[in-house]
Amino acid sequence: TTNREYYRPVYHHTPLYGWMNDANGLVYKDGEYHLYFQYNPYGSKWGNMHWGHSVSKDLIHWEHLAPAIARDTLGHIFSGSSVVDHNNSAGYGKDALIAFYTSASDEHGQIQCMAYSTDNGRTYTKYEGNPILTPFDGLKDFRDPKVFWYEPAQKWYMIVSADKNMRFYNSTDLKHWEYLSQFGEGYGVQPNQFECPDFIQLPVDGDKNHMKWVMIVNVNPGCPFGGSATEYFVGDFDGKEFKCDNDKSVSKWLDFGKDHYATVCFSNTGDRTIAVPWMSNWQYANATPTRQYRSANALPRELSLYTKDGEIYMAANAVKETQGLRKGTTELNNIDLKDEYTVNPITTGPEGACELEMDITPGKADTVGFALCNDKGEKVDIYLDMKAGRVVMDRTQSGITDLTPYGEMTVHDKETDDHRKTLSVNYVNDFALGTWAPLSLCNGKSYHLDIFVDKCSIEIFVDGGRIAMTNLVFPTAPYNALRFYTRGGEAQVENLKVHQLSL
Ligand code: FRU
Repeated sequence: TTNREYYRPVYHHTPLYGWMNDANGLVYKDGEYHLYFQYNPYGSKWGNMHWGHSVSKDLIHWEHLAPAIARDTLGHIFSGSSVVDHNNSAGYGKDALIAFYTSASDEHGQIQCMAYSTDNGRTYTKYEGNPILTPFDGLKDFRDPKVFWYEPAQKWYMIVSADKNMRFYNSTDLKHWEYLSQFGEGYGVQPNQFECPDFIQLPVDGDKNHMKWVMIVNVNPGCPFGGSATEYFVGDFDGKEFKCDNDKSVSKWLDFGKDHYATVCFSNTGDRTIAVPWMSNWQYANATPTRQYRSANALPRELSLYTKDGEIYMAANAVKETQGLRKGTTELNNIDLKDEYTVNPITTGPEGACELEMDITPGKADTVGFALCNDKGEKVDIYLDMKAGRVVMDRTQSGITDLTPYGEMTVHDKETDDHRKTLSVNYVNDFALGTWAPLSLCNGKSYHLDIFVDKCSIEIFVDGGRIAMTNLVFPTAPYNALRFYTRGGEAQVENLKVHQLSL
């Protein structure tokens, strides 16, 4: 396209122009996936929040549409959700799309509002009775409403982030909401400033007779690798209260990278549960090296529950529709790895876009993995550290890692509780690091790695998404070689494939 920038991804969704953060109002209707998103149409930094809009038939090819909900006198249009009103509960017609968002301003605070669409989500009319919900206790952080149909009660439910809790409400007409309960204080990583909830029910190990509720909680700041990340809690819901299976101190992560946030799911997708992350981190989201636009979404992921050592975890795997990106495949011979083995070059799609698949059997090795390298000496190290029991993605030498030439970072100002305060910084490098996940989530002797490489991102899915890890990288030339290595013992690399990806 004409406004191509160097780091614009080949196959990930980005806004054509302007700033993007959270995915909003995700809903499937009449063959279309609607991706609304936190959007600044006037510039490539956070501000003037609207709901931008893109649609797709396959979760991969996106068509950009005009912003759907614009900022107004109640303030910014913050994050939220959409539902298909199958029973005409709100009175705007059967199957109207109803959007719920937070209006945010200094004057009115954070209040929940509603808008409806009768033209398949292209345009929305704001409800004249807005707001539909204000905090009963004057809470400052009260936002990101997620609405869902709860079958046993035959009612609509809303879950809203309320500082260190998530609050539940229910309603029959989508306009009047009754408070039920709250959950969260002290749970998971601390301090737990909750944002962007989702609440979904999934079968455990595919068994529809064993259903569990999962609360998705996006937390900022204070996550293990710094800044923002996505946590989840598994438990039960009785229509009034959520009870978590675990102690307060347990944190479970939907993704073990540093660039996975504000992840929520589509509504109205039947048996599938599909989530869309925003692929950035509030620590440096405003300082990534693009100009006309900023931020991409990570690949849509299908969520499911699995059991490991008596604990229930949520897997997040790239949706199967990503196979439509494959434009060719190179199969490589199995490697008996004694020390090092280099494949140079690998055949990728345009601008280095590819998907790497392999099975690694570490055997007695302490460390086995590979560096994904380019011609500039930049690399991303992806390896299994068997002593520590970790899969690691290290981007310290991945290319541009010092985002501070752009002069700013976004921080949580504890005094004013503004979690998007912009500071000029001298030198704080929140970007150059490795992220890791525990291999104890997997079963085994061998690990299947499915790795998506795009112009400025790497997403790893281990063993069908038992581990997901998403990180931005800014190489100054596309990665085009693989340098395998093992330390402390021989290892096997089998079923090695490089898929060339493009839209
Ligand atoms: C999360 C978030 C939301 C808020 C939105 C504002 O990234 O802080 O809580 O609604 O971004 O853009």
